[in-house]
Amino acid sequence: MHRMGSVQLYFLLLGFWLFSACDFGQSSDTIDAGVAPIPKTLSDADLLDPKKCQQCHQQHYEEWASSMHAYASKDPVFLAMNQRGQRETNGELGSFCVQCHAPMALRTGATIDGLNLETVPDHLQGVTCYFCHTVEAVNGTHNNPLQLASDGVMRGGFSDPVETPAHLSGYSAFHDRSEPESAALCGACHDVVTPSGHHIERTFLEWQNSVFGQADMDSFLSCGDCHMNGRTEPIAAGPGNPVRRRHKHLMPGVDVALTPFFGHENHVAAVQEELDYTVEAHLCMEETQLLTVRLGNLTAGHAFPSGSAHDRRLWAELRAYSGDNEVWTHGIVPEDVPLADTAADDLFSFFEHGFDENGEEAFMLWEITDSESNVLEAPESTDTSAVIEDQHKIKTFDLAGLNVDRIDIQVKLRPMALHVVDSLVASGDLDPSIRDAIPTFNLKGAEVTWTIDDGWVCVPW
Ligand code: HEC
Ligand code: HEC
Ligand code: HEC
Ligand code: HEC
Ligand code: HEC
Repeated sequence: MHRMGSVQLYFLLLGFWLFSACDFGQSSDTIDAGVAPIPKTLSDADLLDPKKCQQCHQQHYEEWASSMHAYASKDPVFLAMNQRGQRETNGELGSFCVQCHAPMALRTGATIDGLNLETVPDHLQGVTCYFCHTVEAVNGTHNNPLQLASDGVMRGGFSDPVETPAHLSGYSAFHDRSEPESAALCGACHDVVTPSGHHIERTFLEWQNSVFGQADMDSFLSCGDCHMNGRTEPIAAGPGNPVRRRHKHLMPGVDVALTPFFGHENHVAAVQEELDYTVEAHLCMEETQLLTVRLGNLTAGHAFPSGSAHDRRLWAELRAYSGDNEVWTHGIVPEDVPLADTAADDLFSFFEHGFDENGEEAFMLWEITDSESNVLEAPESTDTSAVIEDQHKIKTFDLAGLNVDRIDIQVKLRPMALHVVDSLVASGDLDPSIRDAIPTFNLKGAEVTWTIDDGWVCVPW
């Protein structure tokens, strides 16, 4: 993902606006479309079903159907955690988890606590089209306070939608990524406050405090600006529908499906592609054989990892060579070994530690009452040198006497800590075979090699 300059963005939007405004001779009566009732062919029940949108919005459907929004209530780790949480809290957890992971199943009464999700009809699973596209108000900043309209209007970013007999359409700033309101829609679910009041997931807050969250600054970029880039093409199938900006609905992050799921391979490839640009690494070697390693968040508009950072594991692996011999390593974690089982304290690693009320390390949302965060933060200033000083994480190693002539770094990300998985398997809530499906990504953009031919410098630059 490329961080788009606001000037570029401006021209993109301007170009798009000119394009759609002059090209298609939208007559003014299309704009009045909302006034006279348009005949609908999708019933209120049909509107709830993503499959009913597929006929005309094929690509939106396919991208969404392979996304984590569609998988949110099918994820076996989610199901296992919810089940354990309900048991350990004697049901007090209630609808807490499903309010975000299966909001339409909850709001239509198909589930109360998520324990019956496996029998809930497919069209109510996950974060659905209908859920996002009927939001009419955002009444808070966390735990999904989104208010849905019941007028059957599918809200989007276009103020001149072509009439369709399928559904009513209308413009909403919550659905227009060039408006700050759109981030409030995403942010409302992407910040989690636990039942005990601890603000455990803070993607929205981190974004608000970053240079990207300042609506009055040139650096402003909404969630959608980065996560819903798109293409210039029609947004609905049908003769004569205009070419517009179609926004991608895959929204790859770090999680991938752990069981067979539609579009899985494309999704994994998209996650890898995003991750490859996310972190920058620098190796600085001095003549005294002092190695300084610097890591920074290059493209994320919030911390990295963000959100469920207590379940993520990001770390650096270092290898030094003298000729053909590997003479020193640091932070090497084998594929199937939890970070906690290695020399954990010494790892150059980034995630969040959760603690329960007794100050003991805790992994489950309902137990965590406090956390300690060590992540790659987003820039809070547009001044590059301040970013390097304040936002980069630095660790030094003394390699004196090793005769090192080459050093490699690799940065790894595990979306789900194996420790957490093991704990869910041990409590009998998770099928042990799921463990093998947890990937470890290698962030290719952070693969750097220093050789003695580079001299006593930092690479890159
Ligand atoms: C029979 C075809 C058809 C079906 C089925 C259909 N749509 Fe549409 N939809 C359209 C057309 C046509 C447009 C307008 C295209 C344009 O203006 O370029 C549209 C526009 C939209 C917009 C943009 C509104 C705006 O003003 O920005 C959204 C959002 C939308 N549809 C969502 C959905 C969802 C969700 C479903 C399934 C519940 C669905 N549509 C089913 C044909 C359809
Ligand atoms: C109803 C609540 C809700 C809303 C609204 C919502 N999301 Fe999500 N989102 C989720 C949930 C739940 C998941 C996690 C699914 C999982 O990983 O199992 C998720 C996953 C994601 C992921 C992938 C995360 C990962 O780690 O793989 C991205 C990226 C994302 N959302 C971005 C957005 C953006 C951008 C918007 C606004 C356009 C948005 N979300 C709106 C609930 C929501
Ligand atoms: C997580 C929330 C979310 C979900 C789920 C979601 N959308 Fe969207 N969708 C958006 C947002 C936000 C936009 C507006 C982007 C913009 O204009 O800046 C959008 C735009 C659209 C548009 C207008 C054309 C475009 O690309 O901008 C259509 C059509 C659409 N979505 C259809 C769907 C369909 C069909 C589904 C389900 C298969 C779906 N959406 C699921 C958030 C969502
Ligand atoms: C400047 C671009 C940018 C902006 C703005 C931005 N993001 Fe991201 N986001 C990224 C990048 C880059 C990543 C990391 C790549 C990846 O996870 O595939 C990421 C990762 C994520 C993830 C996965 C997080 C993790 O580490 O587990 C979620 C969820 C997410 N973003 C949601 C949001 C939401 C919600 C907003 C708005 C409040 C937002 N993003 C704003 C670029 C951005
Ligand atoms: C306020 C909305 C919200 C609530 C409440 C919520 N989640 Fe999530 N959950 C999310 C979002 C958003 C993501 C994606 C986070 C990211 O990638 O940064 C997510 C991701 C996850 C994931 C996949 C990522 C991971 O942690 O490995 C699991 C599992 C999960 N949630 C379990 C739960 C359980 C269990 C509960 C209830 C105890 C719960 N969630 C409550 C919004 C929510």
